[in-house]
Amino acid sequence: MALAKRTFDVVVVGAGGAGMRAALSLSEAGLKVAVLSKVFPTRSHTVAAQGGIAASLGNVNEDNWHWHMYDTVKGSDYLGDQDAIEFMCRAAPEVVYELEHFGMPFDRLDSGKIYQRPFGGHMQDYGKNPVPRACAAADRTGHALLHTLYQQNVRANTNFFVEWMALDLIRDQDGDVLGVVAMEIETSEVMILQARATLFATGGAGRIFSASTNAYINTGDGLGMAARAGIPLEDMEFFQFHPTGVHGSGVLITEGVRGEGGYLVNKDGERFMPRYAPTAKDLASRDVVARAMATEIKEGRGCGPHGDHVMLKLDHLGDEVIRHRLPGIRDIALKFAHVDPSKAPIPVVPTAHYMMGGIPTNYHGQVVAPHGTAPEDVVQGFYAVGECACVSVHGANRLGCNSLLDLIVFGRSAARQIIEDLKNNPNPKPLPADAADRPLARLARLDNQKNGERVAEVGDAMRRTMQAHCGVFRFPDLMAEGVQKIREVAERVRVTEIKDKSKVFNTARVEALELDNLIEVAQATMTAAEARKESRGAHAREDFPERDDKNWLKHSLYYSEGHRLDYKPVRLKPLTVESFPLKARVY
Ligand code: FUM
Repeated sequence: MALAKRTFDVVVVGAGGAGMRAALSLSEAGLKVAVLSKVFPTRSHTVAAQGGIAASLGNVNEDNWHWHMYDTVKGSDYLGDQDAIEFMCRAAPEVVYELEHFGMPFDRLDSGKIYQRPFGGHMQDYGKNPVPRACAAADRTGHALLHTLYQQNVRANTNFFVEWMALDLIRDQDGDVLGVVAMEIETSEVMILQARATLFATGGAGRIFSASTNAYINTGDGLGMAARAGIPLEDMEFFQFHPTGVHGSGVLITEGVRGEGGYLVNKDGERFMPRYAPTAKDLASRDVVARAMATEIKEGRGCGPHGDHVMLKLDHLGDEVIRHRLPGIRDIALKFAHVDPSKAPIPVVPTAHYMMGGIPTNYHGQVVAPHGTAPEDVVQGFYAVGECACVSVHGANRLGCNSLLDLIVFGRSAARQIIEDLKNNPNPKPLPADAADRPLARLARLDNQKNGERVAEVGDAMRRTMQAHCGVFRFPDLMAEGVQKIREVAERVRVTEIKDKSKVFNTARVEALELDNLIEVAQATMTAAEARKESRGAHAREDFPERDDKNWLKHSLYYSEGHRLDYKPVRLKPLTVESFPLKARVY
């Protein structure tokens, strides 16, 4: 079938913070840039980020980038690559001031400087005391950031393809990436978008779990496309559970609540975090707080008739502070938990939130994947940034507010790299004859499938499997069973059927295509988790409760074909400073 084709200098897939930050620099450099997004750009999941963006501005208390770097290395449980972490923490103040100059409406201190609040794991003087490092626009920082970047992109003439879904990467026989095949959701029109550079900024995949803070659009599309194109996925066993999702709905309650002075209590009204983290208390790293909550619940100190949650208390902050600093949280508490947080605590549980792993990249956003004989080759023409990428700055556990920072720092650096690379690569390579074969075959299968199961049923089976077998605490028998089960679900995905094509054809079609991507992520996560025989960061095994640096200080690489795992070393050497040596992680 002859498909329509359009040619750009750069195709960016995803219009969240990372994609839009990159697109802005690329368009400003005079390149012809297409940004594809399944939703209107300002509805991308970055809009849901609440508490802030981390940068050592030191507007409230003394701070510096090296302390931020130490916290990030420690937060990652030493799995983060220290060159990339130095790069990010050093760049943080500059990228935040850039956002300010783009017009981002940060809250202000009385001094007129950007408002900063404490966040989990961000400390002064190499771990001594919490420091306000999260630069915030009330509890709607992601919303403010995304609108600012969208407006700047409109000014810079970025071309947006709104409600378009990328289906698959185009790779030629050299392994180079030459663009994507995409589908307009409303019309089903399929088109080839050819580009000299393809940048994935497709976000996370929290929807592999039943209880998630993630938007329904977070279906791991970039990871699915990369995996189908033979690119490995790095460190997929590390999935972060945010301590405070609203019990029952999973909606995020920002860590900023604890940054403003809120704290967690068990059924006895005890503030329990000092027992688990005597210094940082409720502002310990997220994995530590989530495990403490799960332990309280497991040991019978959970709240409610089923003892299955704990309470987040913030009434003592007073109605005025809540309305001024946490207005979105007040709304969420009223709507989803039916409590007024100035009068009663909010019931919360740890909820799947963030994928530390992703498409392997360096800190220039170039995708690096074993190719030929060299252990780490750059895949020509292919870049990835944001949650879909694994740089790796977050290692085994991300610190709160480092995600918005990651989007902006690496969105900008990938754009700079692409601008350089395209100077040496002025003409697009010819497309291979089979450029669109894989996505067209996927669509044809969906349209012709008979006697298959509903997408929703199979998707539910996947989410339930992940929730039960790969949670906050991980058990050997459950994980082994989980690997088996998720492979069986994957077989069912291959024969899902769109039942009612007349009514909701394209919505159902998109959900089926998304499930192809989710199941790649779920299999990668389950397989890599079962294989890693230690506890590190967000990966907490009951049978191997300790970190094992001798055998496991390494990144995993999962290949979809054959479910094969490989490993590569952690980059312990920073760019200009000394490495932070491995230590026990205490908060
Ligand atoms: O708690 C929050 O506001 C979430 C922030 C983050 O994930 O970085």
